[in-house]
Amino acid sequence: MRRLVLGVLLAVLPSLAAQAQSLVGALEWLPPGSLSVDALTRHPQEQLEGGERQSFYVEFGRLAFRSPDVLGGTARKAGLSCQACHANGFATTAFLIPGLSNKPGSIDVSHAFWNLRGEDGSDNPLEIPSLRGVKTKDRFGLDRRTASLRDFTRRVIVTEFSGAEPDALLLDALVAYQEKLQPTAVVYEPVSLRQDLADLTRYLDALRVPLAEEEPVLAERMTVMIRGQIGFIHERFAEDDMRGSRGLLEEWSRQLARIAQQAERSDWVQARSALAELRQAMATPPAVLAADLPRSLYEPEKLKAWLSKPVR
Ligand code: HEC
Repeated sequence: MRRLVLGVLLAVLPSLAAQAQSLVGALEWLPPGSLSVDALTRHPQEQLEGGERQSFYVEFGRLAFRSPDVLGGTARKAGLSCQACHANGFATTAFLIPGLSNKPGSIDVSHAFWNLRGEDGSDNPLEIPSLRGVKTKDRFGLDRRTASLRDFTRRVIVTEFSGAEPDALLLDALVAYQEKLQPTAVVYEPVSLRQDLADLTRYLDALRVPLAEEEPVLAERMTVMIRGQIGFIHERFAEDDMRGSRGLLEEWSRQLARIAQQAERSDWVQARSALAELRQAMATPPAVLAADLPRSLYEPEKLKAWLSKPVR
């Protein structure tokens, strides 16, 4: 029934945010009705204070905000990241998991589904807040229980979503990114391949920092996150005859894995030049992606058809 209700709501709500999450992960780990076409094909424009020129902290935080592996448990397995609920720093008003939400845009974050240790024994979905203007707040959470954005962020990761204890850099980065989310009106735009590819080049630019610093652990961590983002694009080229597009994305992912290996072996010169090459390839992506795009799951109609197929 909830699925039906959601369908009706989707038809009448004027604007809905993206869930920006793994399609395959969600199909496998979330109850039916957790994915909505509108939410996966439109999202609010990001708009950061200071535009696209940001520090490494902000850029790493931006990547981490979109990376399910910052979280643990079911969230991670389902491919959910901060971005899934707080799309581009706004509230994802269409976010809904049957059984854990009482209306779109709400979710029970103290539930055994996310973390057995966090289950509070009550059915208490909360409205997902926008994080816009979070920098100016002095209390966080709907009950205003926490005075520090850093403490709240740690709590979200560890207590709510069973993630591993975040290190200082990860917290600094997530806080730096959230503090750039200036309050602004919601302007919706389509989720697009063009923007997802532009984001990849942005992540690669950030990866230059640990390669310049010769920090293998951070380089490895970032390559894993970036490969996850490539995986999200890969999922959108789902049809059998899209092997060319998928193969290209898989190759990019393998190149990132090689860069991490080179970093681990301290082959820094090689790692840096491999990164520059990959950056160039991504900036001018081969025509195969553009050719497959009209049939890909970036297209709302194709996504709708794909989601309505019986469970794969
Ligand atoms: C499954 C949905 C979901 C995910 C994933 C999620 N959040 Fe939230 N977030 C919420 C909900 C619901 C609340 C309100 C909870 C509360 O008040 O305790 C919230 C509240 C917050 C707040 C408090 C905002 C305020 O104004 O008080 C911050 C900050 C925040 N989240 C950051 C994050 C970050 C960072 C991540 C990723 C590490 C994340 N969230 C992942 C749903 C989510």
